[in-house]
This record gives sequence, C-alpha cells and structure tokens, in this order.
Amino acid sequence: MKNVEIIGTGSCVPERIVTNDELSTIVETSDEWISTRTGISERRISLGENTSDLAAKAALEALKDSKLEAKDIELIIVATTSPDSYVPSTACIVQGLIGASNAACFDISAACTGFIFALNTAAQYIKTGVYKTALVIGAEVLSKIMDWKDRNTCVLFGDGAGAAVLRAGEEGIMNTYMASDGINGREFLRCFAAQNKNPFMLESLDVKDKITMNGKEVFRFAVKVMVDSIEKVLEAAQSNIEDIDYIIPHQANIRIIEFVAKKLKIDMSKFFINLNKYGNTSGATIPIALDEMNKQGLLKRGNKVIFIGFGGGLTWGSVLVKWTI
Ligand code: ACO
Repeated sequence: MKNVEIIGTGSCVPERIVTNDELSTIVETSDEWISTRTGISERRISLGENTSDLAAKAALEALKDSKLEAKDIELIIVATTSPDSYVPSTACIVQGLIGASNAACFDISAACTGFIFALNTAAQYIKTGVYKTALVIGAEVLSKIMDWKDRNTCVLFGDGAGAAVLRAGEEGIMNTYMASDGINGREFLRCFAAQNKNPFMLESLDVKDKITMNGKEVFRFAVKVMVDSIEKVLEAAQSNIEDIDYIIPHQANIRIIEFVAKKLKIDMSKFFINLNKYGNTSGATIPIALDEMNKQGLLKRGNKVIFIGFGGGLTWGSVLVKWTI
C-alpha cells in the first residue's frame, strides 16, 4: 500500500479585517471580554466572496506550491459547513473555477473537524491506489450563517480557506484518527438547513438557520477530545509526545489549547497559533495554519506534526504527518 505526502499548501482570507472594537459597535461586547475569554483580536469577513471563491484561490496557491497543474488533480474534496449551495457541491464549483477537468469532486460536512475528515478520506483513495493526486480544501464563509445579534457566537468566527495537495509517496501521513458523537452532542453546536414546508404538511416547524452553540459544553468536550486525539495517533504510530515537533490545533479558543498543553505537560511553543488574527474559521483553521507554517519556513523535512480538529456533530480527530517537502 502506498503512503500519502503533502506536497503543497495554499490559503486565502478576505481582505476586510473586523476588530473586536468594531464588533462592540454591533453587539454588547468589548475587546477586553473577547481577547481574555478567547485570545481572538480580529477576524476576516467576506464582503461578497462566497466559500468557493476563497476555496479556489487557496487551491490555486496550493497547486503553484506543489508545481502541479489543475488537470493533474484526480480528486477534490472540500470540507465546509457553509457551502455555496445544496447543489452543486462546493468542490464541483471549485473544479469549474480552477479548471480541474480530470477530478472527481465532493464535499464533506464535519464542521470544524472537516479538514481532518477530508484529508483522511483523500488519503484512503491514494493509499489504496485509486488516485495518485488529490486536492483537499477547508473553506468557510461563516459570516453568512452567523446570527449577528448573538454575542455568544458572532464574536468567535471568521471567514477563510486553506488547501493542501496530496500525492502518493513513500512517507507522509503516519496515522489518522476520527470519531463522532451524534448521540449525546448533536445539539451543542447547530445550524439548521431549510426546513420542509411543502404544501401537503398541516403545519411546519420554524427553525433557526443560523449557528447556535452551547459554549460551555463545547469547551468541556474540546479539551477532552483534543487530549484523546493526540494520544490516539501517538499510540497507533508507537510514538510519544517528545517525538512531535509541532501541533496544529483547530483554532477556536486559546484557553482550550492552554488547558490541553497543561494536561499533557506540553510547552505552548509546540502549538502553532494564529486564532488571534482570524478567529475560528471552522474547517479552514488547520489548512490556513499549515500554509502559514509552510510559507514561514517553520516546517523542516522530517518534522513530525499532529493536526487536531474538533467541532459540531460532535466530531473530532487527528492526523500525524511526517513533513516531506
Ligand atoms: N461579550 C461580552 N459578554 C459576553 C459575550 C460577549 N461576546 N458572550 C457571552 N457573554 C457573557 C455571557 O452572557 C455571560 O453573562 P452572564 O453571566 O450575565 O450570563 C458571561 O459573558 C459569561 O459567559 P460564559 O459562557 O460563562 O463565558 P465562557 O468563559 O464560557 O466563554 C466561550 C464563552 C468563549 C464561548 C467559551 O465557552 C468557549 O470558547 N467555548 C468553546 C467554543 C468553541 O470552541 N466553539 C467552536 C467549536 S468548533 C465548531 O464546530 C464550529
């Protein structure tokens, strides 16, 4: 069976910066509250670009970085909670925008764990020899589905996209782990799609088609599953935390990451953090962080890196990668 290497990365965030102070003119909040509770200082908000627009720009950058052309891609998976449309998939729209004429395309819905699920799915196709080259994208325009009157949520999220090109190789992805709990936790973080109001129904439900969240429950869940996810991939790869050069966590809240660092007795310098600049971009946080690390030259060939995601569903998971560029 083949292995799977990451051979290029890209990212794209909207130009418009919205600071905490600016948010305090929309809802009753303050820079002090947001930064001390979350670590977020500002986020990028789309002024009209849709999820596929950001995704396509990130994809083109990743293709350039990998020195491949769009027609070399055989599979495109977009992880998103904020697709452009029910039909077509955002992946098909990206295919059209970048001209990836030889790719099969579909979306994955796993909230903030989406990029981990998409990476793992693409890796399975490559490992089994079905495809050699895949493009995996995490992309969100969450500002479409925010309740801009709800200070519990609207201060936390942002828009953006990140992408990675995967190719069959000798080394690379060492282990993956995915998990879900739709039994106990599906109501903690929610955004309904259109509800059925067909003419044959006697009455229809009116539900909220914007994000709602039980922040305290998500916080508790996040700390627990981040620790579990790190331990699971290390165990499966027969590695220990001292062998790991970097951890790229889902960027939701600095306090969650600090709790995890304390619990596992890991120095905070092992975690790459950029949530202060972008807030929580859901499925896009990990590939944006990965691209920033790659572009800043932080990742050296042979480095071992863990990506960890957690989010609505509930979903969580991790990937252990040996960096090969
Ligand atoms: N500004 C000012 N006050 C606020 C704000 C705000 N933006 N938001 C809430 N408050 C108030 C609350 O109303 C509450 O007031 P009250 O005591 O009068 O009722 C008070 O601040 C304290 O609220 P808490 O909920 O106790 O604040 P907490 O310390 O738990 O922090 C937070 C809230 C930041 C949401 C935290 O719980 C958290 O980070 N949870 C995890 C969220 C997360 O990671 N979500 C992403 C999941 S990934 C995905 O799939 C999308």
